[in-house]
Amino acid sequence: MEQTIHSMPRIGDLAPQFEIATTHGTLRLEDYKGSWLILFSHPADFTPVCTTEFMAFANLYDEFKKRNTELLGLSIDSVYSHIAWVRNIEEKMGVKIKFPVIADLNKEVASLYGMMMPGESKTETSRAVFVIDPDQKIRAIIYYPLATGRNMDEILRLIDALQTHDKYKVATPANWRPGDDVIVPPPNTQEMAEQRVKEKYEIKDWYFAKKKL
Ligand code: BEZ
Repeated sequence: MEQTIHSMPRIGDLAPQFEIATTHGTLRLEDYKGSWLILFSHPADFTPVCTTEFMAFANLYDEFKKRNTELLGLSIDSVYSHIAWVRNIEEKMGVKIKFPVIADLNKEVASLYGMMMPGESKTETSRAVFVIDPDQKIRAIIYYPLATGRNMDEILRLIDALQTHDKYKVATPANWRPGDDVIVPPPNTQEMAEQRVKEKYEIKDWYFAKKKL
């Protein structure tokens, strides 16, 4: 079987720059400097799973905005198709799509970000999510296959976790929700380990300490 190697940006890389047509006019990645950005692709307009995803993102739009986070969709469809689809979602489902959608007809951004999964589809982008921070660094990447809709609550939770990490220099445990205890980074010297066990944290062992924020 022929093997194709596709380069794609990774967590910690600067997000690749682009300038591209969207349903809100031409946009550049640079326009988002200073905000968090969820850049996400969907396979195609006028498909049911994608429609549920757009409605789920739209329902959380104000929550993302409260967190200084913008949404930017993408698929390999024309701007006219995007316009018709988002108008259809508003008319038939009563949900207004307030975020822009990239018309990536030449697969320009899809190729830059490695959003295509040719083994699954050569004509549609996979369900990729790139979380880009205010300095335009990629902070998280999620990929889902064509047939599985994503969990937008999890994407919002991820933003909360990343922002909590940046603000308080702590990590967050499995299934963490805002308000839950956070993880104190483990000590990395013997002296710090000895100090750690004397702290008023909830300590399971010298490397495993939680605290309230
Ligand atoms: C959908 O969004 O419904 C869909 C898109 C591509 C493949 C399968 C399902």
